[in-house]
Amino acid sequence: MKKLITSALPYVHGVPHLGNIIGSVLPADVYARFCRLRGEEVLFICGSDSHGTMFEIAAERRNTTPKKLAYENHKKVIEIFEKFKLSFDYYGITDSETNREFTYHIFRKLDENGYIKEKEVESAYCERCNRFLPDRFIEGKCPFCGGLTRGDQCDDCGKLMNIKEIIEPHCVLCNGEITFKKTRHLFLDLPKFEKELFDFVKNSRGWSKLAKKETLGFLKQGLKPRAITRDASWGFKVPKKNYENKVFYVWFDAPIGYLSFTKEWCLKNDQKFEEWWKNEKTKLVQFMGKDNTIFHSIIFPAMLLGCRENWKLADRLISCGWLKTEGIKFSKSRGKGLTTEEALKKYPADYWRFVLVSLYPEQNDSVFSIKIFKETINNEFADIIGNFVHRVLSFCYSNFKEIPRPDIFYPIPEEIKELKNIFKTITKNFEECKFREALKNIIHYCKISNAYFNNKEPWKKEGEEKKEICFYSGNLAKNLAIFLYPIVPNFSEKVFDFLNLNFKKIRWIDSAEFNFSGKIKKPKPLIEKIK
Ligand code: MF3
Ligand code: ZN
Repeated sequence: MKKLITSALPYVHGVPHLGNIIGSVLPADVYARFCRLRGEEVLFICGSDSHGTMFEIAAERRNTTPKKLAYENHKKVIEIFEKFKLSFDYYGITDSETNREFTYHIFRKLDENGYIKEKEVESAYCERCNRFLPDRFIEGKCPFCGGLTRGDQCDDCGKLMNIKEIIEPHCVLCNGEITFKKTRHLFLDLPKFEKELFDFVKNSRGWSKLAKKETLGFLKQGLKPRAITRDASWGFKVPKKNYENKVFYVWFDAPIGYLSFTKEWCLKNDQKFEEWWKNEKTKLVQFMGKDNTIFHSIIFPAMLLGCRENWKLADRLISCGWLKTEGIKFSKSRGKGLTTEEALKKYPADYWRFVLVSLYPEQNDSVFSIKIFKETINNEFADIIGNFVHRVLSFCYSNFKEIPRPDIFYPIPEEIKELKNIFKTITKNFEECKFREALKNIIHYCKISNAYFNNKEPWKKEGEEKKEICFYSGNLAKNLAIFLYPIVPNFSEKVFDFLNLNFKKIRWIDSAEFNFSGKIKKPKPLIEKIK
């Protein structure tokens, strides 16, 4: 089965912080790795979101151009993501020529089909800077929660608002007062898609609860036309008369990046683009943070539907909550929270992946602290998992130099029989993208395995009986390494290496089997505790 997996495209006006990782790239990666192990034909794509007004602010502050800033950060992000073991098949950038062509194509189709409206609006203007101020240049108090908002979406509560509703608005660049001036913009006529979108959402299966809830809530309020152009200079110029000085709104060309990146990958790999985006049998699974939901569940689908070209719509949308630290979410625009770069300097990628998955905010926001980090690594990753695998392999190595196979066949011991069911639950957890649950059940599996090994006391046994215990314990360790591969790939690869297993031949289903025996290497300790 073809499966196209996407993660929301991180903005690259700065380098990603841990909030970006947990919101979409990491869960998408865990899922992609799981699907590959199941033998599915996976294409996992992502890329840099390189347009938008934030680039103009950031570039001005750093005395550079938005373009330089975007491409320099893009390179850095790719390096960091590789260290983080994110297994993208392709990582593009939305400023690419392919994306420009797709953006123009989709815009023209929407325009031809009567889904683009012109409207005069009042837009924020700074007299001192002498320019229209795009949303993100306006800072003030959020009318809903009183927090700091920059532009039309509050960083604290995530609510969308009209720019005019912002309390005490001022210009980010010069701190000056803001006035409102008339200007013409192009709008996507969303109300025309209401029924189609409602059917799309109603018939959808396998969305995360958060994604469905946000989307239905938004639909029920009734849709309004949405501006797709901006008075700015960085971005794709609008190819229409009288709009030459405007650019597309970043949220117009960004999701089109999903198509463009697929195309770019296809060109490089001699694959057919239509088989991904015009094929009913291909499954499209999209991951994002909850503040990105409606762009993926309403606006982007409307853009695709409006072309009347049979583009694929998402099969599953998985959005999740925020990871907070001390009551504040990891936010890039306000420079709070650890950058991924800093995080990786402190601890290895697997440690972060383990803890972040154990905190995956499926429905409610979750809280991160260094204390939680240490406890999770020491008590769960090191003491339970690392310790069990290392003890078993060391015991087998020093006694047999292999995972031995008993001469007589012994049926699966009573003590570990229930693990077959836990295997099924873990599989279901991964299928349903309930990664936090999956990890909990993997730990449970490990505890039962550990109890079996301890209670059987193989060090007091001889001959066949000792072999039997080692055979089953060795297989339990192997099974755990397979379960954990989507979450902590470095750990699992080490275990596979000790077991002399060729990773390429490993399948998910092997984790349900007790069929492995053979020479192994002398294992080294796997997880070092944090002091
Ligand atoms: N850059 C956006 C963010 O970080 C996400 C863009 S997702 C895409 O919030 F759909 F536009 F690609
Ligand atoms: Zn100003």
